[in-house]
Amino acid sequence: MPPASVDLVLTDPPYGAGYRDRAGRSVANDDNLVWLLPAFEEAARVLKPDCFCVSFYGWHRADKFLSAWKAAGFRPAGQIVWAKPYRSNARRRFLEYRHECAYLLAKGRPPLPQAPIPDVLPWEYSGNRRHPTEKPVSAMRRLIGAFSKPDDIVLDPFAGCGTTAVAALELGRRFVAIELAPQYCAGARAAARKGRSKPQPNPTPWVGIIRATSAASSGSACRRATTHRFSAGRPTSRMSSAITSTNTISNPSAPA
Ligand SMILES: C[S@@+](CC[C@H](N)C(=O)[O-])C[C@H]1O[C@@H](n2cnc3c(N)ncnc32)[C@H](O)[C@@H]1O
Repeated sequence: MPPASVDLVLTDPPYGAGYRDRAGRSVANDDNLVWLLPAFEEAARVLKPDCFCVSFYGWHRADKFLSAWKAAGFRPAGQIVWAKPYRSNARRRFLEYRHECAYLLAKGRPPLPQAPIPDVLPWEYSGNRRHPTEKPVSAMRRLIGAFSKPDDIVLDPFAGCGTTAVAALELGRRFVAIELAPQYCAGARAAARKGRSKPQPNPTPWVGIIRATSAASSGSACRRATTHRFSAGRPTSRMSSAITSTNTISNPSAPA
């Protein structure tokens, strides 16, 4: 993707938590954080100046996330906490886990919003049916509504089953969604197609869902090339190559 080409980055990356849900499902690259800095460097590169990145993160690796965000050129501009009406940890811990959190990160000096949203918001259970850590569309909608305008392009480089994409469509934004796991990529495309068939607030074309690859080529938005998990050592910019595969987003209405 060209530099300064998206208006909002909204993402929910792996937390580096080694997560496994009650059914044994896990999240790719949740067992390491070697992708963290390269991914956010790319996010900062493709984000327009004076715009926002909102990123969920895992509280227990907060130091790593904050260091990477700052090193990538983002300035923490706020923290958003969602209060869950239920406990999300399966095993007994020191605390009941009842919140999700995200940082609002500024690139440059975005203008102040007319009506700021609260930094504590209610959380709606997604059901986690399509993805083990599926976020509620309502949470993404609130963020997209607050930090972008109709027709803007929203990028989610860790898209999962496409929650951000669905929320973007619902609000008349375009989106680029990138996902590594083929099953979630397929789910995201299906969700986006379904969302697309509903009446839209404006006729903005959607942009595409890209399967993260190291050598994505032309054509459809989610073409299979080579897929990777990050392993030990500095990643060979796998995230970057996914983000930089411009030709995969050239056809707005061509899900593979
Ligand atoms: C926390 S989940 C996102 C869930 C998403 N918010 C949803 O509602 O479905 C993080 C996602 O990042 C994906 N992922 C991990 N490494 C990746 C990479 N290098 N490039 C793209 N996606 C990656 C995982 O497969 C996982 O689906």
